[in-house]
Amino acid sequence: MRHLILGGTGTVGSQIVEGLRERGESVRVLTRSRERAQELPDGVDAVIGDLMEPSTYGEVFRDFDRLFILNAVAPTELHEGLVALNEGVRAGAERIVYLSVQGADTVPHVPHFAAKVEIEKAIRESGVPFTILRPSNFYQNDHWFQGPIMEHGVYPQPLGDVGVSRVDVGDIAQAAVRALTEPGFEGRTYNLVGPDPLTGEDCADAYGRVLDRAVKYGGNDLDAWEEQALAMLPAWMAWDFKVMYAAFQKDGLVADEEDLAQTRTIVGRDPRPFEDFVRETVEQWRG
Ligand SMILES: NC(=O)c1ccc[n+]([C@@H]2O[C@H](COP(=O)([O-])OP(=O)(O)OC[C@H]3O[C@@H](n4cnc5c(N)ncnc54)[C@H](OP(=O)(O)O)[C@@H]3O)[C@@H](O)[C@H]2O)c1
Repeated sequence: MRHLILGGTGTVGSQIVEGLRERGESVRVLTRSRERAQELPDGVDAVIGDLMEPSTYGEVFRDFDRLFILNAVAPTELHEGLVALNEGVRAGAERIVYLSVQGADTVPHVPHFAAKVEIEKAIRESGVPFTILRPSNFYQNDHWFQGPIMEHGVYPQPLGDVGVSRVDVGDIAQAAVRALTEPGFEGRTYNLVGPDPLTGEDCADAYGRVLDRAVKYGGNDLDAWEEQALAMLPAWMAWDFKVMYAAFQKDGLVADEEDLAQTRTIVGRDPRPFEDFVRETVEQWRG
């Protein structure tokens, strides 16, 4: 089976590429970058193109059977998602797997969630067999927080005090690989969640236990968070994430039994506990 993976050089997509290669599948990855094309694993084909550059669509959308769509968070996300869908359908995609987000429909005032609601809708109406994956907040976001955690003993992601059922990217990739290669997942939307809802304090405590020293939660002040985030993120993105964190702080994003059952079904096992991820990550950070 030939797979075209959009987002295949990123956090989620690179693990999907690895999983497909382990199954002996043929994989083609879209990237905008010649350097990243050269860094792809052996046996993976790269195609250079850009979802915002129509002159590249003919070269990108060919020689595949199944299409994985992941769009980066961007003001153009809806446009890029619809390009991927339209061009994928035109090129004869026989199956589409789309990476959305947990809560896309319940928190539709967050810009990068709203884009996904519209893309999901268009995919459902496309007539092509599809699977929609809606993951919660990634454990792997914590890779951005190595400095604050290790140097200052602060866990800075402002998740709030209600709880978010964060999930491991390995579980998301496993779900995507199964949806691309196995029968039985078509026409369905899966929330992908971890085993426990995690508050900001819970995350700080998990790092504290593994490091065996105090790690404090950075707190719920979103204006202070935005000011710090502007050192790393463009202003539009910091604002979008601030709106998302405000929603997390107000209502949380807590999985129910049905979400956990959906996750187990498509991942094929229990989702990874957070503390397991923290142990591995701290070991890496300690070198
Ligand atoms: N982080 C979370 O907690 C979380 C939770 C749920 C859902 N999500 C969703 O997951 C997605 C992000 O996934 P990720 O973290 O794996 O992404 P990522 O690591 O930021 O990678 C982004 C990918 O998109 C590609 N890309 C960006 N702009 C492109 C364009 N114009 N044309 C073609 N390709 C383009 C990049 O390719 P090149 O740079 O190689 O061109 C790269 O492969 C977002 O939609 C986000 O909302 C995230």
